Amino acid sequence: MCGIVGILGKEPVAPLLVDSLRRLEYRGYDSAGVATLEEGRLTRRRAEGKLRNLEGRLKEEPLSGTIGIGHTRWATHGRPSERNAHPHATDRLAVVHNGIIENFRELRQELEAGGDVFETETDTEVVARLVTREMRKTNDPAKAVAASLPHLRGAFALAFLFDGHEDLMIGARKGAPLAIGFGEGEMYLGSDALALAPFTRTISYLEDGDWVVLDRTTAVIRDAFGAKVKRPRIQTSAGAFLVDKGNHRHFMAKEIHEQPEVVGRTLSHYLDMANGRVRMPEGLPFDWKAIDRITMSACGTAYYAGLVGKYWFERYARIPVEIDVASEFRYREAPLSDKGLALVISQSGETADTLAGLRYAKDCGLPVLAVVNVPTSTIARESSAVAPTLAGPEIGVASTKAFTCQLAVLACLAIGAGRARGTIDAAKERELVAELVKVPGLMADALQTETAIEHVARDIAKATDVLFLGRGTNYPLAMEGALKLKEISYIHAEGYAAGELKHGPIALIDEEMPVVVLAPRDAIFEKTVSNMQEVAARGGRIILIADAHAAHDAGIEPAGTLVMPEMAPDFAAIAYAVPAQLLAYYAAVTLGKDVDQPRNLAKSVTVE
Ligand code: G6P
Repeated sequence: MCGIVGILGKEPVAPLLVDSLRRLEYRGYDSAGVATLEEGRLTRRRAEGKLRNLEGRLKEEPLSGTIGIGHTRWATHGRPSERNAHPHATDRLAVVHNGIIENFRELRQELEAGGDVFETETDTEVVARLVTREMRKTNDPAKAVAASLPHLRGAFALAFLFDGHEDLMIGARKGAPLAIGFGEGEMYLGSDALALAPFTRTISYLEDGDWVVLDRTTAVIRDAFGAKVKRPRIQTSAGAFLVDKGNHRHFMAKEIHEQPEVVGRTLSHYLDMANGRVRMPEGLPFDWKAIDRITMSACGTAYYAGLVGKYWFERYARIPVEIDVASEFRYREAPLSDKGLALVISQSGETADTLAGLRYAKDCGLPVLAVVNVPTSTIARESSAVAPTLAGPEIGVASTKAFTCQLAVLACLAIGAGRARGTIDAAKERELVAELVKVPGLMADALQTETAIEHVARDIAKATDVLFLGRGTNYPLAMEGALKLKEISYIHAEGYAAGELKHGPIALIDEEMPVVVLAPRDAIFEKTVSNMQEVAARGGRIILIADAHAAHDAGIEPAGTLVMPEMAPDFAAIAYAVPAQLLAYYAAVTLGKDVDQPRNLAKSVTVE
């Protein structure tokens, strides 16, 4: 999945395209490229790797065209290389693409049989060649695009630039987002509002199947059947300025440190602190009392947030929760209760599998509640109701503050649902709200232990495998801790339910293997202690994340301890996320890895 941008401007567009691509790098950074018209002729600059490599190319060989398209790539078909970098071009046109053309092999064979010679290994080149074939017949770009689109299966957002056409750009979308931006005598296309924010706040989102013909003053939108359609123009609030790292070395460090503030902000949105009550999102199109099941789906870190949420919804609201990774949920034909609620969780609101899960639930007639961080996203727009996380823009690819804000929202929703269903009374609600209110402060305390964490992380950085253990809500957190470490340090790590240790992973334990145990003082602390004893008995090196007395009480001598403040167990998972994140962060820093843009990953996964 990739980021795309197009500009019909008044001034040279290459620097503007790069500015926009910088905002889209969260979608991928395997290569980047731009195409403009230089005296009417298509000209490209492309570079493998991060955007700065393209910037270097453009410094050496600048472009002066006032119309252009740009792309930042996350490789799906064809390895990252300059040759496979977008824009892909023929003598007639250049195209940038986000998505996957699923039938590209068939199309490629057909085009090759007709004499086309392919230059790349990408699925996108078939689009360039298909439209070029139509252009040869009609010499009309719009007709050529219209004739080609029905042949494409899969998901795509496309932007086309045509040789010799200084005032024409064509965009199309199916399954991947694309927005039009309206300027003063200028027009834009972009994968999202953030990409367009430096240029304009007035945008229209294309709907699935739409395609648009742009010149500098008009945008003619047609639907999949060719009928002219109007799509609402909205004013976005996406900030024009890129967030910076402040005093931190990496965005991830900054975002970890922001957590007390953004979790606090999120909680104040949902809590009436004076009265000890939860404020539920307004206009929910369902009655919590009538809900007999919640079906959650999400991907990656958001999925682990959902797993924690399951414990809370079942405990406080007594609603059975099933939860799937969205890539499974969308295809497993799950029978859904007609009294059910679908709950999707996503930072970006653009994750392709989560969106597909949302659509499946909607097709089954369920209301969909989205816990989402980007309010203008496709998931936010397509859900029946939104419970926002107020984490602010998250730039580091490994999610941190969005995760803890998702946990904060899920905790509030579970308490609110419990109150609405009568499974907790006002006194219990007050008690739980009082616990939640303490969470930002506890997170701030957890950040104070950073130096100790840095020290332990140096040890972790030497390991080839790390095990994370937890019980209850700290079991999903163990998986999230392992995911963080894998993502940014490339150390193999697994998160396990502590009680499951003896059913397999215990075989891995030796003197070399760090075992990180998340052990807040909860009702099952004693059980976790037994599991630690099992590790210690086999010479395993325990890294204990717990309060100051836990090691003594458990009768173990950990190889390292990350001391957490004492806290009630209900929402401890939110505060315990902090040391788990910092451990991964410092391990990656010790190993000299690219923390904010780890290899092979992307912030937003808009392909399945
Ligand atoms: C990618 C990101 C993860 C994120 C996941 C789900 O894998 O690298 O950090 O958790 O997508 O993304 P979403 O935007 O839906 O939360």
